[in-house]
Amino acid sequence: MNYNFDEIIDRRNDPYSYSMKWSKNPMMAGMLGVDSINDETIAIFTADMDFRCAQPIIESLHKVADHGIFGYSGHFCSEDYFNAVINWFKRRHNWEFCKEDMVYSHGTVEALKLSVQAFSEPGEGVIIQRPVYGPFTMVIESSGRNLVNNQLIEGEDGFYTIDFEDLEAKAKDPNNKMMLICNPHNPVGRIWTKEEMQEVARICRENDVIMVADEIHGDLVRKDAKFTPMASVVDNSNLITCTAVNKTFNLAGLGCTNLIIPNKDLRDKYSASAGFSTPSPFGIAAVISAYNEGEPWLEQVKDYIDGNIDYVLSFLKENMPKVKCRRPDGTYIMWMDFREYGLTPEEIHKRIYCDANVLLEGGMMFDPDLGGGFERVCIPSPRSVINTAFQRISEQFK
Ligand SMILES: Cc1ncc(COP(=O)(O)O)c(C=O)c1O
Repeated sequence: MNYNFDEIIDRRNDPYSYSMKWSKNPMMAGMLGVDSINDETIAIFTADMDFRCAQPIIESLHKVADHGIFGYSGHFCSEDYFNAVINWFKRRHNWEFCKEDMVYSHGTVEALKLSVQAFSEPGEGVIIQRPVYGPFTMVIESSGRNLVNNQLIEGEDGFYTIDFEDLEAKAKDPNNKMMLICNPHNPVGRIWTKEEMQEVARICRENDVIMVADEIHGDLVRKDAKFTPMASVVDNSNLITCTAVNKTFNLAGLGCTNLIIPNKDLRDKYSASAGFSTPSPFGIAAVISAYNEGEPWLEQVKDYIDGNIDYVLSFLKENMPKVKCRRPDGTYIMWMDFREYGLTPEEIHKRIYCDANVLLEGGMMFDPDLGGGFERVCIPSPRSVINTAFQRISEQFK
């Protein structure tokens, strides 16, 4: 089946959309720092696709709806659930794990929070690498843990690398118990190399630091890039991996994250702390059909996303050459550097969010110290929407 990702689907006014990203709710306006959101506002700030999902998934959800009883459900009631996840990672990523290693969580941010709470105590340190997805900060601070930043090094043309010397010094501090790793990295778009992952793992293993790798963007990499799950190339004894259909198949609203925790002691500790949680029948059906039947859709969506990224890069080059942006290896996120304009973050915000009426996410959400002057955009929307958004933004920077 061929999918038409150019189709504009109304997620703002369709009463069954319930889309957070396209909502006009004043609470969302407040969160995004604008007075109001109207029908003309273009929302491209959330990592959520505006494409209808794979047909086999839609059909399996219809079957669950038609069954008509939505009582307590458990993924453990279906061998198909485990097989679908296990076979996907074996087939697509050459990574093998078994059913017993898998723990369900109602979302990845939830899993990060529960991991922080399971493997550290209040006041203990959790290492992250800024600029990084804002909830990494939130789950640490809201749990009363100490945020320890191993700042990524910004290199030529927006190519970020890891400061291993600093990481080692921070890992050696016995108060620092954990590290949250983002791979592919949101927002800087890097896929960490095998050597980089092995060095991070060496440092953490030698210093008894537990690693949680958030790899939920791992299926969404450029057609010419390769993603390697960390667990397939490092010792797994202190590693927890978050996997999910949420980004890959645009199913975030169903909240289905699978943690892979091969070390039984860690798994038991996580489960004892997190408690028992299972997906809804819709989540179970979606995971099974996504991983078993969603591949053709995924290949097509990846082509379309690559096209959108190329489109944005050439638009910027032609119309806003002062904006620096590196082609991300993975994710559908672009990290744009507006610093050459010499404007304050507030002025950049005003021009984009208020004057152009386009909602992005400001860089300080990812890095309160060094993120000023950056904006993050998520581009999995019809190209015409991305085109209008960038036309409007460029008008404000003439
Ligand atoms: C790196 C990363 N982790 C987690 C999430 C949120 O995942 P979930 O919806 O499964 O909580 C996002 C969403 O943008 C993300 O980019």
